[in-house]
Amino acid sequence: MQLLKDEKEQILACVAEVLKSNSKNREDLIPILQKIQAIIGYLPELAMAKIAEGLHVPAADVYGLATFYNQFRLNPPGKHQVKVCLGTACYMVGGTIVLESFERRMEIREGETSPDRLYSLERVACVGCCTMAPVAVVDEVVEGKVTPTRVDGIMLALNEANNQNAEKQKPEQDGGKA
Ligand code: FES
Repeated sequence: MQLLKDEKEQILACVAEVLKSNSKNREDLIPILQKIQAIIGYLPELAMAKIAEGLHVPAADVYGLATFYNQFRLNPPGKHQVKVCLGTACYMVGGTIVLESFERRMEIREGETSPDRLYSLERVACVGCCTMAPVAVVDEVVEGKVTPTRVDGIMLALNEANNQNAEKQKPEQDGGKA
């Protein structure tokens, strides 16, 4: 995933700060990764490379650990985060169809973030609303009995909100140029 403007500097500063306040033992790798993720929201490749450098361990070891534990995310959270439940109840009534519908609409795969960072898509285990299966959580709002048609509606509403936001920002930008 391409870094945003100024993101590289923020990542480097964050890693330097976290490494400064931790011992440089290999055993501290997980807490270090957790702290970095808590601050940045995910674990960028650059951060993992710098952590490896700081702890004098191979970058592959850091990357391996980050991919092994599903508490770590390797992609930035999207502005709109969609989580599709694939717990047993949701799986049995078409959870995977719901997931595939989002993948098609967002043009990304589960676990990814769209290049414009508007959308991220994840699969999750039971979110505790089995009677509403299949369930998706869209920006913390639980959507129940989701169908591919409902996915279209959700995406339409999200796109609409994004367009309105972009429109609102336009006059300010135009005004700035004048
Ligand atoms: S299995 Fe999806 S909400 Fe319980």
